[in-house]
Amino acid sequence: MEASALPTITVEQTTVSKLPSIDFNNLAFGKTFSDHMFICEYYDGKWQTAKIQPYQNLSLSPACNVFHYGQAIFEGMKAYYKEDGSGVVLFRPEKNAERLNISAKRMSMPQVPIELFLVGLQQLIKLDKDFIPKTAGGSLYIRPFLIGTEPFIGVRTSDRYLFCIITGPTGSYYGDAISVLVYDSFIRSTKGGYGSAKAAGNYAGTLYPVELAKQKGYKDVLWLDGEHKKYVSEVGTMNIFFAIDGKLITPLSDGTILEGITRDSVITIAKDLGYEVEQRDISIDEIIEALEQNRLTEMFGTGTAAVVNPINRIGYHDKDYLLDEKTFVISQKIKERLVGIQKGTLEDKFNWVKQVI
Ligand code: COI
Repeated sequence: MEASALPTITVEQTTVSKLPSIDFNNLAFGKTFSDHMFICEYYDGKWQTAKIQPYQNLSLSPACNVFHYGQAIFEGMKAYYKEDGSGVVLFRPEKNAERLNISAKRMSMPQVPIELFLVGLQQLIKLDKDFIPKTAGGSLYIRPFLIGTEPFIGVRTSDRYLFCIITGPTGSYYGDAISVLVYDSFIRSTKGGYGSAKAAGNYAGTLYPVELAKQKGYKDVLWLDGEHKKYVSEVGTMNIFFAIDGKLITPLSDGTILEGITRDSVITIAKDLGYEVEQRDISIDEIIEALEQNRLTEMFGTGTAAVVNPINRIGYHDKDYLLDEKTFVISQKIKERLVGIQKGTLEDKFNWVKQVI
């Protein structure tokens, strides 16, 4: 398919909807799925006819590349009802389509035409619009993903792929402020690796250290850089920000952290609100010192799923450093602005919101 050609999409609608079984007031994150899915295969060097079909299991050869050599990348997005109910919007969707292709390049996978991604997604959302929660904090979580499907045992790039989009109504990812543990034993990524790709392997490698952190009473891990084990990196589920002396500081995008779309939006909003934002290396020693001197007043993570989520405890070298998230002012203001833009209650001066219905 040419990058500019409008994709042909066939639609098969479900005959039995899951809607009556969904409790919109009790939505866990990532456990409920809408009635339909978008699916498109790539083989013979091109994208084939795309389909929207009832949500169902995939049938794949056990020899597929994705099961053995891990060609698997994904995106995370949300669709929202505007607060006044006047339409459904997506937040910077073209950025997700672009980032999927950046991940695809790094993982040696084909580019997904931007039109195929955006038009397919729009049609899918229209069909499953009744799954979008109208409750406060609710949204339709959208998970586009691309996997290598060639049945072949051998370490080389697959010649078949599946691009798929699934969606589901969801509430918030964490809900409350979280605690994070800092390791200097395990690492998530290092320079020259693929830490900035939204690749499944980046998450798989963190599961064991995150489980150990949970056993110690922490919700997640704040990763340090892989080379020096000194500079903070990201949380894995979120990019990280600190407020020190009234300034916001966040690690540089140096290829080792996810290039968060929420991160970028938060930086833009913070600057617009008049805050200074530094993107630079920040060592764990600087953070601990600033915490001990009460100069570090806020810590928070940002991400599509997590939005802007406070962090109220850091564990490092067997010591805990605490903050009271109820005192956080900057992150609260940023969150209010971000959510206001997303829900259409505040002016979208950066032109981020795309109405789909
Ligand atoms: C997202 O924020 O959308 C992600 O993909 C991260 C994951 C923790 C849900």
